[in-house]
Amino acid sequence: MTSQPLNSEQQQLLDDLLAPQKSISSAWLYDQRGSQLFDQITRLKEYYPTRTEIGILTAHRSDIAEMTGEKASIIEFGSGSSEKIRILLRCLNLPAVYVPVDISAEHLELAAAGIRDDFPDLEVIPVVANFTQEFDLPEPVVMPEKNLVFFPGSTIGNFRPDEARELLKVMAVEAGKGGSLLIGVDLVKDPGTLELAYNDQSGVTAAFNLNILEHLNRVHGSDFRIDQFGHHAFFNATHHRIEMHLISLIDQTVTLLGQTIVINQDETILTEYSHKYSIDDFVVMVESTGFVSRAVWTDEDQLFSVHYFDRADSDFFSATLL
Ligand code: AVI
Repeated sequence: MTSQPLNSEQQQLLDDLLAPQKSISSAWLYDQRGSQLFDQITRLKEYYPTRTEIGILTAHRSDIAEMTGEKASIIEFGSGSSEKIRILLRCLNLPAVYVPVDISAEHLELAAAGIRDDFPDLEVIPVVANFTQEFDLPEPVVMPEKNLVFFPGSTIGNFRPDEARELLKVMAVEAGKGGSLLIGVDLVKDPGTLELAYNDQSGVTAAFNLNILEHLNRVHGSDFRIDQFGHHAFFNATHHRIEMHLISLIDQTVTLLGQTIVINQDETILTEYSHKYSIDDFVVMVESTGFVSRAVWTDEDQLFSVHYFDRADSDFFSATLL
């Protein structure tokens, strides 16, 4: 039997699992069950980011509306934040169009249908695209006054800082001249609070992490034994990030795409980074990509931050700099 040549995604998967620090791209965390488990995570008492960000957006919705003005086009990178986008759409003054952008057509259609039900007068134009690369924006019926890119949830933290900068540059392009960015980011804080958020008592985060192996088994017919791995999440103080790993409980071998992968006891497979920022470091990073900070809001415990940036060449800044 001749084996099929591997495509680039499959080759990358193998390369990552054969590297000295084994890893699996965090994109594999989000199959249907993974997305359901993540949804459960957002409601855990230990996982403060979601409710804290919702609190900040709600508290400052009139400032956000005022900064955004009338007839804005809202471009959401990813389409998973149903409650947050509703807060935004409810507070804005006659938004022209909502453009959710996601690689998964299925997610996108579901999200778009829900928004159309709740906002029947709003034009909703979903765009299927990998938002880490530039994409074409659709032409809405009502000409927008400006574009507002919306990226909540601290998903920016799941990218390494070099990747995050590249993504922010794409956002600057999509925001266009005069456009803005509304983005949520988790803040550096005591390691205890951070580590608890990724090691909840009920084991939902552990299930979310282990599900990545089930996903691989289903898609690629690999033979990972889920009961032979444990969940391991910790704060890396040097890189200001939570690292989520799977730790091998025994010496074992796994077969994936015709390759045998040797995994020693206590060896780990990295599955996700979640970078945490100080407000200053985050502003410096975003401003290096073509934006200027206009407002930052946090909760009273300084757990999470929501930032409003304008594109550096927007009229607002040209006027105030003169
Ligand atoms: C989606 N992302 C912002 C979450 C985070 O906190 O980094 C993913 C997550 N992983 C474990 N718990 C939550």
